[in-house]
Amino acid sequence: MTLLAAATKVRENAYAPYSRFKVGAALRSTAGGLHVGCNVENVAYPEGTCAEAGAIAAMIAAGDRRIAEILVIADSPAPVPPCGGCRQKIAEFADPTVPVTLCTTDGASLTMTVADLLPGAFTLAHMDKA
Ligand code: THU
Repeated sequence: MTLLAAATKVRENAYAPYSRFKVGAALRSTAGGLHVGCNVENVAYPEGTCAEAGAIAAMIAAGDRRIAEILVIADSPAPVPPCGGCRQKIAEFADPTVPVTLCTTDGASLTMTVADLLPGAFTLAHMDKA
């Protein structure tokens, strides 16, 4: 299954009663596994858990460790950009050159790299003197 098909399908399962904004994410790990996630909100923290974070959690739970490519889709006027927290989470598990494809349900898409999305990322190397 393509990342687009998988993210489109899992988006239908999103639990987004507060924002009404359903998001789906799918990633391929470097080991070849396909992992998906959708956003899951809750009344105390209505922003809940993002779709990208869900897909990363599924990857880790399945025993894979690195992202080879990731795609996110929502019914937005322009390709949906991952939030700041998700950019850092993606950067934890993906090399800077890894493609991140942002899609709309209308068929628009924009492919960027992890480095495009999070320039100057805080990394382990920044703690070398600790
Ligand atoms: N959301 C995601 O799941 N991923 C994104 O990249 C942007 C935002 C979700 C979080 C929340 O459930 C809803 O969209 C509105 O912020």
